[in-house]
Parts: sequence; C-alpha cells; structure tokens
Amino acid sequence: MTILAVETSCDETAVAILRGGDDHSGPDLLASEVASQIAAHEKYGGVVPEIASRNHLLYAPRLLDRTASTAKIDLSEVDAFAATSGPGLASSLMIGASIAKGLAIGFGKPYLAINHLEGHLLSPFFGDADRDTEIRPNVSLIVSGGHTMLVRVHALCGYQVIGRTVDDAAGEALDKVAKMLGLGYPGGPEIEKRARGGDPNRFELPRSMLGSENFSFSGLKTAVRYLLPKVVGRFCETPDEERRLTQTPYKLDEPLLADLCASFQQAIIDVLVTKTIAAAQRYDADLVTVSGGVSCNQELRRQLLEACSRNGFEFKNAEPSLCTDNAAMIAFAALLRLRAGSGSQVTEEIDPNLALV
Ligand code: KG4
Ligand code: ZN
Repeated sequence: MTILAVETSCDETAVAILRGGDDHSGPDLLASEVASQIAAHEKYGGVVPEIASRNHLLYAPRLLDRTASTAKIDLSEVDAFAATSGPGLASSLMIGASIAKGLAIGFGKPYLAINHLEGHLLSPFFGDADRDTEIRPNVSLIVSGGHTMLVRVHALCGYQVIGRTVDDAAGEALDKVAKMLGLGYPGGPEIEKRARGGDPNRFELPRSMLGSENFSFSGLKTAVRYLLPKVVGRFCETPDEERRLTQTPYKLDEPLLADLCASFQQAIIDVLVTKTIAAAQRYDADLVTVSGGVSCNQELRRQLLEACSRNGFEFKNAEPSLCTDNAAMIAFAALLRLRAGSGSQVTEEIDPNLALV
C-alpha cells in the first residue's frame, strides 16, 4: 500500500510518500520533503496566513515532483492520498487538502483527512526499532508550538485528553522568550543552543499549576519579561518606563545569556516531566510517549527518559525529523487508519479548530 500525504497546517509545506503492508510491520518511508517558510515570516515576527498559503501553493507542486522522483514512483501508483484537515490555519489547510483531494479524485483513489494532533501522537511508533507499529496503550505528551497536551491513548482512535494548556503552548513560550532575547525564530532550538553549559539554577522562575492536569506557560514567560531589566541592572521608576523596558529585546552577554536560557528551559522541562510522570502514575501506564516540535529538545528527551526509567515506565520518542511538522507522520497515521478500515470522504471539510477527540 503506497500513501502520499500533504501537510500544510501552518507555515511548513510538506509532502511524503510511504509504503506499508497490511500487518503491523513498520512501513518504509520512500520520500519526505519539508519546505520551511521561516525566512518569509521572520520579519513580521510571526506567521502571516496570507503569505503562508501563497507559499504553500508555490512549494507544493515542486515537492510533489521531488518526492515522486525520490520514491521512484508515478503518482498513478499511489493507493491513497491524505492531508492534514486540522487544526491549523484555515487558508493553509485548504491548500494541502485541496491538492490531496484533487489527486484522489483524479486517480480514483481513497482520500484520508488526518488530524494533525493524531499525526504527532502516533509518530513515536513510526520507525520503531522492532518495526512493530501496533499502538500500545500509553500516556502521551504532545508538545509543540501550537499545543501542549497530555493524552491517554487506549488504542488507535481511542484517545482521552487528560490535560492541556490554558494559555500559551510550551513552544510558544520558547518562541516568545527567544524574541525578547533578540534570538532567531523558531526560538526553541535557539534557547536550547544557548542553554548548553548554562546554570539552570541561576534564576528562580515559576513552575505553574503543578498540582493540576492542565498546563500554563504564560506566567513563566511574563516572569522572564520582568526579570530581564533587573538582570541587566536597569530598575524602573515609573510604570511607563517599566512597560518600555519590558518590551525591548535584551541582548545579554555570556554567561548571563546561557544561565537565563538554561533556567528558563529547565522551568519548562520540570513542568512537562513532573506532569507527564504524574499522569502515567495516575493512569497506571506502562509506556510514556512524547511528540511535537519541542520534543526535539535533547535535554527534555534526556530528562523524560531518566524520569521514566526511575519510575519504571518504558519511554518512546519520535526521531527528531518526525518531531517538527512533517508529512511522514500524516502518511503514517493514514496507513494505520487504512489498515484499521477507517477512511474518509473527499467531501470532508477542513476544520481549523479540529479537536483530537
Ligand atoms: O510541531 P511543530 O513543528 O509545530 C506545531 O505543530 O506547532 O513545533 C514547533 C515548535 C516551535 O515552538 C519551536 O520553537 C519548537 O517546536 N522547537 C523546539 C526545538 N525545536 C523546535 N523547542 C525546544 N527545543 C528544540 N530543539
Ligand atoms: Zn505540529
């Protein structure tokens, strides 16, 4: 079974082609391409939907050609076409879904609408060392730029959301603090790079809502905002001055920058690890999984693995290329759904607010 998937939920255009059998064996990823639009949005300080959809239209046909030629197949040989149907930016989702639907109609093949969150959630099972893709029950942490949630996974399609962020996602907080520090976008990798060798205990920062199943990262972000003028020895006399000072990007010198990044990163990791382990204990899980862009972070992976081993849980993470947005995870979710006999209609609409369950 050969599946071609398109992912255009935000500012990455991605196409992947995957081949898998009918059993639980691991599939072969024949081709996977991601065209990043970071440079196009960077100067606006965030993703501009209009620019994102224009670029999807520009990049997608080239990626289709490139993946087909890397996979050495003709698109007529594809058995099913899939696309992310939500959540995401409406005008971006529409491009990928229209392309996949058009191909499905044109070649007379099935179309699968895939939830982006389900793509992340299943990605740790892709490329498993034992090449067994059966979705075992687990407690799953999805941690990205748009989402931070804990999910109890009973089986494929059997999901129960345990907790989610009530304000910023962890990746969003990383991106915003990186911006305050005058670092590049996306902020997560920039903070991770600077945090290496820094002292994670140098600055005391809050770990919010530790007793709850939900997450909150906006207080932590604000704490950094108000800490920055003090770190460089600038004290505000008036509210106006405070507002001005807390809005300025701060170019910190070493070792201050490393210590601040390490302290901030550790505050996020502490919250993610503590809540994930608590959920795994509460629901008596054997297995903990983590996915999403922030799970590229080596320190998070290391500390989660360590906490899982200490508490007797098996731990699985997606490989780094499958953590940030990509179409391979969408093709993989489509393969598992097809194997389970669940499909969708080409009339299925995109939904920018699509929930996992
Ligand atoms: O999964 P993703 O590509 O997109 C969403 O679905 O949101 O995640 C993007 C997020 C960004 O906030 C980015 O800063 C963060 O993942 N990220 C990282 C790292 N690489 C990407 N955060 C921490 N450490 C990293 N190495
Ligand atoms: Zn994502």
